[in-house]
Amino acid sequence: MCGIVGYIGFREAWPIVIKGLKRLEYRGYDSAGIALIDNNDLNIYKKAGKVKELEDFAEGQNLTGTIGMGHTRWATHGAPSDRNSHPHTSNNGRLSIIHNGIIENYAILKDELEQRGHTFNSDTDTEVLIHLIEEIYKNEKTDLLEAVRLALKEVSGAYAIVVMDQDNPDELIAARKGSPMVIGVGQGEYFIASDATPIIEYTKNVIYLNDNEIAFLKRDELLIKRLDNVVQTPYVQELELKLEMLEKGGYDHFMLKEIYEQPRSIRDCLRGRIYPEEGKVQLSGIKEFVDKLKNIDRIIIVACGTSWHAGLVGEYLIEEYSRIPVEVEYASEFRYRNPIITEKDVVIAISQSGETADTMAAIEMAKEKGATIFGICNVVGASIPRLTHAGVYTHAGPEIGVASTKAFTAQVTVLTLIAFYLAQQKGTITNSKLIELLTELDNIPDKVQIALQSNDLIKSIGEKFKDSRNCLFLGRGSGFPVALEGALKLKEISYIHAEGYPAAEMKHGPIALIDEEMPVVVIATKNSSYEKVISNIQEVKARKGIVIAIVTEGDTEVKKMADYCIEIPDAAEAFLPLLATIPLQLLSYHIAVLRGCNVDQPRNLAKSVTVE
Ligand code: G6P
Repeated sequence: MCGIVGYIGFREAWPIVIKGLKRLEYRGYDSAGIALIDNNDLNIYKKAGKVKELEDFAEGQNLTGTIGMGHTRWATHGAPSDRNSHPHTSNNGRLSIIHNGIIENYAILKDELEQRGHTFNSDTDTEVLIHLIEEIYKNEKTDLLEAVRLALKEVSGAYAIVVMDQDNPDELIAARKGSPMVIGVGQGEYFIASDATPIIEYTKNVIYLNDNEIAFLKRDELLIKRLDNVVQTPYVQELELKLEMLEKGGYDHFMLKEIYEQPRSIRDCLRGRIYPEEGKVQLSGIKEFVDKLKNIDRIIIVACGTSWHAGLVGEYLIEEYSRIPVEVEYASEFRYRNPIITEKDVVIAISQSGETADTMAAIEMAKEKGATIFGICNVVGASIPRLTHAGVYTHAGPEIGVASTKAFTAQVTVLTLIAFYLAQQKGTITNSKLIELLTELDNIPDKVQIALQSNDLIKSIGEKFKDSRNCLFLGRGSGFPVALEGALKLKEISYIHAEGYPAAEMKHGPIALIDEEMPVVVIATKNSSYEKVISNIQEVKARKGIVIAIVTEGDTEVKKMADYCIEIPDAAEAFLPLLATIPLQLLSYHIAVLRGCNVDQPRNLAKSVTVE
């Protein structure tokens, strides 16, 4: 949450920072601001609203400076407003800061600083930190780097910060703990950002700052030390990201592009991991834990949001094929219980961004209790892959639409692979069955492509329901998490109230909501619960509900009773979630577009939730 960008070098900073902020807008878009230093003058521009509003506001003003930093905000402390926008400044107006995270002890610090005469101009926790730095800078008669270091030792919470001083226009200071930060290394220039996307067009060489590290950047000098003052040797990595991955590529929205990318992203996720002819799954990331995996008592999956839904699909698959008990937990709940975890447990943390604060805290807790932690992540080099013992990347490529689509199907693909891998290792599946399943899995990207061909039909169905106020999604078995995910997609981007329910549970409550205005989306594909789902559809129809059914191609039974049917290709039950999800993503997308909603940046949401 919140995106930060910094630049020091020989080019004008404004265009680099503003473009970077647009790339990071998925992290929050409540307000945006930029600070530049031009000849020892600190110029700050900030505005509530999106980066575009900041750009319009600053037009025609002095935007000169080869050192600068910017921030796009997802509000936590203080309403989204001009005054609460970052950058914030010290009392003497000399120092400025941008911050992603939360300073948890800000209230105590603020009291102390107020007693020492500081006055505050915002309601944010961040402003307290820059006043604290100012106070230390003044009292300790030290340099800025040391003042920042000492200040950070006094704060608790999470942060990625950049600090500038108008009297020292040749240096930037950056630090992180719990919030992401990447440094781009150029020739005579450095870039700082919350992820690599603002940096990629200038340099491929990056350093991922670690927690408790502080960086001192001049145009031709970089020093990284830990908060305990120990100097670190920077580890420069080469980015694999490509610029075209960050562009809409002719689609109206990133979300639509990402939905259409799924045949490719699922294929990338499978590449080098399945050998259908031999009936073999290879997961090099977790290979060294194979002996442990054969003897584990259970798997606990922790995740948030859409990733949690992928976890629920994983539960069905892993239990079905490997017979290992699985529990799926919301990371935010798990971390605050006192869960029973032993060294014999394996915890799988699922996260697209690899930065979700609750998931990170859940991992740390389980690690302390001795569990082995695996990660399923999309963003390479993010914090979660670095916290886990081992893991499997989803390789879906950058996901920019705030509503997760291709990352979800890639997570489900990885969980399918893990289920088959465990079954293979434990001997709970025959080789011939595995050959059959892997051969079919290899073909799933093509089937996803076929599922996408229903786009026009889905759009026309969307037109009929764009003004609905409520919507119910029903599914059984692994169709249930698909229903949850379908409901989440619809509510987050179209603001229509939607609920996902196990189809059989409908009669314990949601059935009371059904009338002739209620659309009910039912996953009614041909699998083990087909007959039961048909009964549930009849229950809906008996109450005059409108049924939109996701059916297997060639289905005739459901077509007799449903109002609308969307076909997906036939597939083994294990692969149902990968296919049935596609029409639900498209349905939400079209409804949201028809309602005039901002599908890529829905209100109040952010893609990377680095606060708990
Ligand atoms: C936010 C995003 C969701 C995502 C969830 C978990 O709510 O908007 O799309 O599923 O965070 O994020 P993660 O990066 O951990 O998968």
